[in-house]
This record gives sequence, C-alpha cells and structure tokens, in this order.
Amino acid sequence: MTQELEFTRPDDWHLHLRDGAEMASVLPHTARCFARAIVMPNLKPPVVTTAQAIAYRGRIQAALPAGLDFTPLMTLYLTDGTTPEEMRRAQASDAVMAAKLYPAGATTNAENGVTRLECIYPALAAMEEAGMPLLVHGEATAADIDVFDRERAFIEASLLPLLRDFPGLRIVFEHITTAEAAELVRAGPPTLAATITPQHLLYNRNAILAGGIHPHYYCLPVLKREHHRQALVAAATSGHPRFFLGTDSAPHAVGAKESACGCAGIYSAHAAIELYAEAFDQAGALDKLEGFASFHGADWYGLPRNPDRIRLRREAWPVPDSYTFGETQVRPLRGGETLGWRLLAE
Ligand code: NCD
Ligand code: ZN
Repeated sequence: MTQELEFTRPDDWHLHLRDGAEMASVLPHTARCFARAIVMPNLKPPVVTTAQAIAYRGRIQAALPAGLDFTPLMTLYLTDGTTPEEMRRAQASDAVMAAKLYPAGATTNAENGVTRLECIYPALAAMEEAGMPLLVHGEATAADIDVFDRERAFIEASLLPLLRDFPGLRIVFEHITTAEAAELVRAGPPTLAATITPQHLLYNRNAILAGGIHPHYYCLPVLKREHHRQALVAAATSGHPRFFLGTDSAPHAVGAKESACGCAGIYSAHAAIELYAEAFDQAGALDKLEGFASFHGADWYGLPRNPDRIRLRREAWPVPDSYTFGETQVRPLRGGETLGWRLLAE
C-alpha cells in the first residue's frame, strides 16, 4: 500500500475566499497547499469590474501570511449589464483570468447574475475573440425544475446553445455533479473543460438527508445519486486532460448553515488535497492524482506547471470541529472526524 505521495504542487481552479477578516482566516488553508487559485467573484457586492478585481487581489495579497507563496487568479462576475469593453479591459489586465456566469438566483450571492443568456452575448463574443475563459455555474433556475435536475436542464437550455453559438469560446463547466455533464465534457470539443469538487467525488445525496438533515453537506449544485458520484470518480481518475481540480471550498458561518434556511456551500480548504487523495485512493487511482490536481488545469489555462512539489503521508489525523472564520466559526468538511491522508509541511 502506498504510504507516501510526492507530486507537483497543485492549484485550485475554483475557490471562494470571501473578503475581509473572513478571507484572512481561510486563506492560509488554501495557500499551505495550492500555488494558485481561481478566486470566485461572488462577493457582496460582486466583483464586476477589472478595477474591483485588482483591488480584491490586493486585499488577498495583503492578507497572505509571510512565507506563503500564493497567486490569486481573479475573475469577474457577469451581469446583464456586462459590456464587451469591460471584458477587453479585463483580458488586457494581468489580474483577471476569466469571467463567471451565475444564472440569476442559482446559488449563494447570485442575485445579480444573468437573467437571460442573450443579455451577455456581446460580452461573450468579446471573450471568445480575446481567448478569455467563461466559467459557468451550470444550473437552470426556473422554479418548476426539480433541484436534482437543474444541471441536466442547464446543459439542454444553455450549455449546448453556448457551444453552438460560440465555438471558439473556452468554457469551464464548474463543479460538475452528474454523469451527463461528465460525458458531455469527455466527448466535447477541446474548448470545454470541467472542475470536480472533493465532496462530489466522496459523497452522494444520502450524506445530506439520511438519518437526519445534515446542512454541512449542502452545496450547490447539490450532491446527486450514487451512480453520478461513480461517473465523476471515473472522469476524475481517467487521466482525461479536461477534468481538473476545483474545490469550490465555500465557507459560511456555522450559524448561516445550521438555520431554518441554511445556505449552500461546503468548506474544504483545510484538507482539500487530502480529501482528493482519499477519493483517488478509494478508486485505486492514486497515480492519476497528479495529472488531475497539478497538470490538467494549468495546461488548459495555458499557465506553466508549478516547479515545486508537495508530499502527502498516509496518516490518520483528527479534523477540528470548527475553524475561526472572521468573528465567527466555520465547520469544515469532516469536522470532528478523521482523515487518512495528511499534507506534510515543508
Ligand atoms: C458557493 C458559495 O457559497 O459562494 N456555494 C456553493 O454551494 N457552492 C456558490 C457556488 O459556487 O455555487
Ligand atoms: Zn463555487
């Protein structure tokens, strides 16, 4: 049995860092492991201009503890009002890597998202021309669509039209959760890639609902049936270069999760690579982890692979019940339980 793993330092291609004191509390968890991360723009208010993205990047850099080397790659939040000029400004900056499509109302802080795709067609045309990736939260939002069918409905209603109308647009289908999404990306054009979270590799929807309601397993897109989880594991461990790591680590104060209307988001940054190692280990595919975690994303984004390496050891360690989160606490994935892989400090 493999006891130790050593491989190229990974990157997180989908991360929520929040802002202010909350950001300062969670940032070290990501920076202890990942060299770079694509930072989501769903702040309140959202990051909609290049100037705001540059300012947000500055706040992240200022909060980084001494001795940790970490590069935040910024994104813009698309709204009905996003202009092609803003996209060209973003592409010309060295700060903004991509723009994020949240269908209006789809998830946490998506109130200002896009109501109709046609509203952003001029911006998408500018992105296609500039080679700027579009990151999509792939869930249809109409009230009559079953929550568990929202990703599939998005593929039909929005993703296939986008692929048809913008054949040159580079698209990341973020945090995919279904066999249909995995198959679409596997068989799709080279412009289409996907990120996969640790929770969607490790859990199915029973984690939320069996034996009581477990709000800390609630994220969007919501966990699906076991056969979808298995399809995601197969995709992630296949070695296919257009599937890569994106934690979607999304911290919320414990009280906002344990509530009559608990919000969506799972915090995993405290143990992200360890959780992925567990999923790949369970699948007998530890040899595929480096490609998924450290090569495929960098290659797809056209960035150099990281020059240094990390080490993981098979070693049980107890995950704390909670971590400080600004003025409050965040409950991490597996809080109060044990993990079997541990990242070694340099
Ligand atoms: C994210 C958040 O909390 O910002 N929540 C989540 O459940 N994933 C938003 C998102 O990525 O959908
Ligand atoms: Zn997210």
